[in-house]
Amino acid sequence: MQGTNEVLRVEPMMQHIVPIVLGPPGAGKGTQCKRLSEALQVPHISTGDLLREHIRKGTSLGAKVKRTIERGNLVPDSLIWEMLQERIGRSDCRQGFVLDGFPRTASQAERFDAYLAQHKSARHSLLPLVVRLAVDNSVLLRRLTGRRVCPKCASVFHIEFGAPQVPGHCDHDGAELFIRDDDREATIRERLRVYEREISPILQHYGNDGRILEIAGDRPVEQVTEEILEAMGHVAV
Ligand code: AP5
Repeated sequence: MQGTNEVLRVEPMMQHIVPIVLGPPGAGKGTQCKRLSEALQVPHISTGDLLREHIRKGTSLGAKVKRTIERGNLVPDSLIWEMLQERIGRSDCRQGFVLDGFPRTASQAERFDAYLAQHKSARHSLLPLVVRLAVDNSVLLRRLTGRRVCPKCASVFHIEFGAPQVPGHCDHDGAELFIRDDDREATIRERLRVYEREISPILQHYGNDGRILEIAGDRPVEQVTEEILEAMGHVAV
């Protein structure tokens, strides 16, 4: 009889944590997500960066969202979801990704849950884990008004806290750095207001599973990254 010596092979379930980095404007989400993406070797997906790319390229989505972003308001959930779903559906996201600035509303969180459930298989699943960065408003304002961004590679600098080697130019590709349109003080205040309004329902959404890491974001960049990675290591998958 065939198979008496055959060993029944059970493929292990591969579970990948998807860090969802949340926090007020200027909390360091982009800065930390870039570092986490390098450490975990998965893509960094920022809905803000994707939207700004659409604006820069002059796409129809870019034209639709430009004024909303300049005013500091949220882009409608349906537009965000369509754009994000296309990006996380690409093959480089199969082993996970780091999410920056998404979800911004409970409805976005629900759509993401449904997507993860739909893409779960017996051998593979993605598990969201919220990392919430906390920073005082006075610090946020200083961070945002001093921020400079590279138009080519989206690297983020700060005139005081992380200045480029050549003032005004990106360390990686030499491109001229720019100031984001929404980094004016009035718009920053509106963005902070929107964040305060929307964050509670999202925390409630994820808090039910106890999958929220609270991290103090007002310390040196490297220290914050270390703490996130260490805390993630203690989370059961
Ligand atoms: P988005 O691009 O997500 O902006 P945000 O949430 O306002 O956050 P920021 O990018 O301003 O800050 P950050 O936390 O990433 O800080 P960073 O690392 O750059 O969204 C922009 C807009 O797009 C929204 O207002 C909305 O209109 C729309 N949008 C995006 N996603 C959406 C969604 N899901 N739904 C609906 N609408 C959406 O750091 C800031 C500065 O501080 C930098 O200069 C940095 O060098 C410095 N810094 C960082 N960490 C430290 C540190 N530890 N110490 C000292 N300096 C530091």
